[in-house]
Amino acid sequence: MPINLPNKFEYRDNHLFIDNIELGEIANKVGTPCYVYSASAICERYRQYTRAFLIAGLEAEIFYAVKACSNLEIIRLLANEGAGADVVSGGELLRAMKAGVPAHKIVFAGVGKTAKEIELGLKSGIRAFNVESEPELRLIERLAKQLSLHARISLRLNPGVDPHTHAYITTGQRGNKFGISYEQALELARYATNSPYLWLVGVQCHIGSQLHELEPISEAANRLAELAQTVERQNNCALEYLDIGGGLGVAYRLAEEQAASPEALAQLVATTLARYGRNWKILAEPGRWLVAEAGTLLTEVLFLKSDTETTFAIVDAAMNDLIRPSLYQAYHEIVPLVEPLNSDLINYDVVGPVCESGDFLAQNRALPLLEEGMKLAILSAGAYGFSMSSNYNSRPRAAEILVEGDNWRSIRARETFEDLIRAEG
Ligand code: LLP
Repeated sequence: MPINLPNKFEYRDNHLFIDNIELGEIANKVGTPCYVYSASAICERYRQYTRAFLIAGLEAEIFYAVKACSNLEIIRLLANEGAGADVVSGGELLRAMKAGVPAHKIVFAGVGKTAKEIELGLKSGIRAFNVESEPELRLIERLAKQLSLHARISLRLNPGVDPHTHAYITTGQRGNKFGISYEQALELARYATNSPYLWLVGVQCHIGSQLHELEPISEAANRLAELAQTVERQNNCALEYLDIGGGLGVAYRLAEEQAASPEALAQLVATTLARYGRNWKILAEPGRWLVAEAGTLLTEVLFLKSDTETTFAIVDAAMNDLIRPSLYQAYHEIVPLVEPLNSDLINYDVVGPVCESGDFLAQNRALPLLEEGMKLAILSAGAYGFSMSSNYNSRPRAAEILVEGDNWRSIRARETFEDLIRAEG
């Protein structure tokens, strides 16, 4: 079945291009495995996302979830478009600021912020801490007092909604470690509005990632608006914003699926706000939707090998480079950099060199006849690809390349053996 390539990807005379750059040229010069991103694809997605909220009549600020792809140049690209950053560690906070995101456009999420990380956020003057528990709130208050500062906080609601996605990326159900219950949020809001060191500026909610159904998002948005309204009434205060989190899914099976739409999301949020008769500002924290389809992982077939049941294509990328297939049984399209003339397909397990049977990039996948030395593109790998990569099996992490129209440049050099051992001994 022919697949629709992601935006900015196309075959020209059987050769795969991103924008005006032939991917084979990059693979030859930089080597494989190697991540390649299209700057224009990312910027267009960002503009579509922001426009969707504008059209729905909402005042919205977009905070890019840095964890999706945390390369400084990718953050810088989005910061130049006007994006803020959603960060989950001191490391991400420092990255966002180094990439030029102003502190007042950074929100800091996560269930286990350390005192050191909170101090960094306080001293930097970030927009808000998304608070996930009572002890965290008390620690933030104590540190703000010590520093004679106000801590801007937002309460993360766990709305108890099933978003129908993979269990590992479901975050808004009872039993998930994230957020606080509705009742406890009311208690903590009361506490925060009475504290001279805490400044309650918003409420937040993020129910999961790779979401395709709007119904659970709608349910969560309603709970969030209800919480905001009750908090304001009970404490006679006004919140600055509602933060709806991220989570919008993308189409990984390019022949069959359609990406979820920010237009539908924005409309749904507008309808919810209308129901409450309040025009809160909206913050959103998209990650995957902005960068997934804009990135690809290039790899080369090292060897072919068959047993009675399976034909293996052993490639030079592995689970340490892209862990999504192994960890979430995720599907990524794989296409050759040069389309073969022969249209026959056979089924392959595309596997990496890592010493684990769980190291695969695709299983039982119909692909054109592969040959040793052929180069492949693993598509829609821009989100949670490089950012989840590791040095397992002492494999240096891949290079990262940014394509900007007619030009391309390295935005992260391939790691060397020296990089691997630098902190040791
Ligand atoms: N906000 C919060 C609080 C989050 O926890 C996340 C993602 C986001 C925003 C961004 O969500 P997105 O728009 O990207 O769905 N490694 C997994 C995804 C983990 C998502 C973690 N949190 C994967 O590869 O599918």
